[in-house]
Amino acid sequence: MTGTDNRPIGMFDSGFGGLTVARAVIDVLPREDLVYIGDTGRYPYGPRSASEVREFARELAWSLVKDHNAKAIVVACNTASAAAFDELSAELPVPVVSVVEPGARALSLTTTSKRVGVIGTVGTISSGAYQRALAEVDSSMELIAAACPGFVEFVERGQTTGDEVVLLAERLLAPVVAAEVDALLLGCTHYPFLSRVISDVMGPGVVLVSSADETAFALADLLKATGLATTSDAVGQHTFLSSGDVEWFADFGRRLLGPELSSASRWNRSQSD
Ligand code: DGL
Repeated sequence: MTGTDNRPIGMFDSGFGGLTVARAVIDVLPREDLVYIGDTGRYPYGPRSASEVREFARELAWSLVKDHNAKAIVVACNTASAAAFDELSAELPVPVVSVVEPGARALSLTTTSKRVGVIGTVGTISSGAYQRALAEVDSSMELIAAACPGFVEFVERGQTTGDEVVLLAERLLAPVVAAEVDALLLGCTHYPFLSRVISDVMGPGVVLVSSADETAFALADLLKATGLATTSDAVGQHTFLSSGDVEWFADFGRRLLGPELSSASRWNRSQSD
């Protein structure tokens, strides 16, 4: 299919973690406009029930479509992808990209032993989304999955090094270390910010895989295939919204994403009503 479309890409996450995906999308698709919502007023999603996360995800995705005219939605959160991807794909009038399937594909391309690990929030791991996605990509892979409650909170506090986080990582990653995997998927968009600690605990023989780049490539392919790529020659506009403390979102988010996050505005839930 051919065609062009200058509407923005819509993206959401429970907070800051999806900025790893936003960074990759800005780098891979520099001319596309982007609207990102960080639902920091309601994070973390990880410990919440799947039905509650699904409702939040629907509200955010519909707001991006209705209030911001998004041409495609990127669910830049593993917990929301695991809980809501099927529903969003079925009900939204625009294509939806999740981080789960691209992450599973990246993991299968990285491993040589076919013994792999995935870590994520309690919601993501207990949903079985990665277990299903990996089985579809390559059913011969052996997967060890571990939930890492507490990692997100460390990242959101800006605490990505130090004894406390190392001790927690040693405890939570012990089953994956014992399983002697050769590749570990960071199945939570916050975890790339802890990659130094995770890598030290896993050891030099384990490659860490993040789904951010693979998701950006999947989005680029989708926009091209569906005729939704922009025709603009100008650098894209990037809009950042938060349901929580907007100043904090802009200040901390800029440190994570870079200068494109020069300011943030309030996402009002009522906009989507
Ligand atoms: N960003 C979410 C994810 O990728 C995790 C953060 C949260 O628990 O809200 O799973």
